[in-house]
Parts: sequence; C-alpha cells; structure tokens
Amino acid sequence: MIAIASDHAGYQLKSGLIEYFKAKKLAYRDLGTNSLDSVDYPDFGFKLGKEVSSGNYEFGIAICGTGIGISISANKVKGIRAALIYDENTAKLAKEHNNANIIAFGGRTTKLEDAIRYFEVFKNTEYQLRHQKRIDKITLFEEKKCQH
Ligand code: RB5
Repeated sequence: MIAIASDHAGYQLKSGLIEYFKAKKLAYRDLGTNSLDSVDYPDFGFKLGKEVSSGNYEFGIAICGTGIGISISANKVKGIRAALIYDENTAKLAKEHNNANIIAFGGRTTKLEDAIRYFEVFKNTEYQLRHQKRIDKITLFEEKKCQH
C-alpha cells in the first residue's frame, strides 16, 4: 500500500499518479488535498509522515510545488526519511543508499510521465544494507541517543 498526499500545487500530479495506480491496480491511500484550493503543505507533510511512520505502508509520496516544503515537513516526523526525487538516479539512490520511506516530487517541476518513471525506479530498487550504519546514526540522533 502506498500513501500519497499533496498541497494544491501538487494536486494535479497527485491525481495523475492516482490514475496510474488505478490502471496498474496498485493499492494506495489518498491523504488529500482534494482540490486546487490553496492549503498549507506542512499540514499534508505531517499527515503523510505520521501515516508512513506507522509502518503500514510500503512508502509514501509527497507532492507540493517543488517537493521541497512538503519533504521538509514530513522529515520532522520521527522515523521519516523523505527524499526529493528529480531524476532516475536520485530515485535509485534514495532507495539504495538512504532507504527513503517517502519520495517527494514537485508538481510544478516534474511532468507526470517522469514522476511515474521515478516512482517505478524507486519501487523496484533494493536497499543496500551496507549503508545501514549511516541510517542508524540518523535514528540515534533523532532519538537523542547520541551527541553531535
Ligand atoms: C505553494 O505555493 C508552494 O509554496 C508549495 O507548494 C511548495 O512549493 C513549497 O515548498
């Protein structure tokens, strides 16, 4: 199951991705927003982050105008590693190296066909366990169990 959320600037790209999920029969949960009416991206970044941190989703997709604000917001939620994706390489490395649990797209910067391609690359790439030491450092810092 994939969780997806956007603000108004990401609404159209979110709708396009949802059409793709439907066509491919991929399970998803749409956390809004549900129109082009202006909303605040932190509300949707926090909501998505909380859902994904529950562990009930394969990963999440966050979309705002640039993907920046909503990924910053999602990253404030404990356990979230949200990565802004802008090409196939970042899609691949966000999984291989960072084991991102949210990928972020810019609705005003990324075409639907490209977002679909990056989504597929991320989904079909395996995390490389050799990077776990670095992720553990992030987790320890987040849990205030280390000094930096
Ligand atoms: C909304 O206009 C815009 O600021 C937002 O979608 C996003 O790009 C922020 O990072």
